[in-house]
Amino acid sequence: MSKIFWKGGALLAPVPPVLVTVGDGERENVFTVAWTGLINTIPPKTYISVRPSRYSYEILKKNGEFALNLTPSSLIAACDWCGVHTGRKVDKFKKWSLTKIPANNITPPLIDECPLALECRVFDCIELGTHHMFLADVLGVTVSEELLDKSGRLCIERANLAAFAHGEYFELGKSLGKFGFSVKKKKKKKSNQSVKSKHK
Ligand SMILES: Cc1cc2nc3c(=O)[nH]c(=O)nc-3n(C[C@H](O)[C@H](O)[C@H](O)COP(=O)(O)O)c2cc1C
Repeated sequence: MSKIFWKGGALLAPVPPVLVTVGDGERENVFTVAWTGLINTIPPKTYISVRPSRYSYEILKKNGEFALNLTPSSLIAACDWCGVHTGRKVDKFKKWSLTKIPANNITPPLIDECPLALECRVFDCIELGTHHMFLADVLGVTVSEELLDKSGRLCIERANLAAFAHGEYFELGKSLGKFGFSVKKKKKKKSNQSVKSKHK
């Protein structure tokens, strides 16, 4: 493959466009964040990188808590809009009929229309340049019951989550395999004989 070389840039894709809710007891707001990810499994830790100019930044700095509300493709217009308008001027929850529900561990509300929400408490803030990175513990996860099968297994494909890649939104497509499938031994096909005997 022939390649060309560019200078360093923020080109990691896809990333999740999440609706981040913040609140300090007096003010509540929602804004869109794509610079987020997981950084530890046990205990679960995450981060969001936020520009200090954001209204949400002020609230976050004061309260130190936020929720990552994962965005289904049905909410992508709201997600985009919340990422180009400031809560200083408009109530974004009202504008998009996003229903606030109380979180279990934090002050900011969760968004009922989002199928999954991670409740987070900040433990550090690193000033990196354009963005300040808020590192946080994931204290709890709220899951819509429709995402669970009869045995309680989370079927993430039911959430129809959106992805963000190089300035564009996409919907997650077909499953390519489960974690570890490439090393999993294939089950031997049952011969006709044994299938028949099973139905005797
Ligand atoms: C897809 C998308 C991703 C974004 N990601 C970030 C981000 O990671 N960090 C950030 O500070 N702003 C990000 N923004 C911009 C903020 O969401 C935007 O400035 C918003 O209006 C801030 O709202 P607020 O002033 O109510 O806090 C993103 C916007 C969009 C549309």
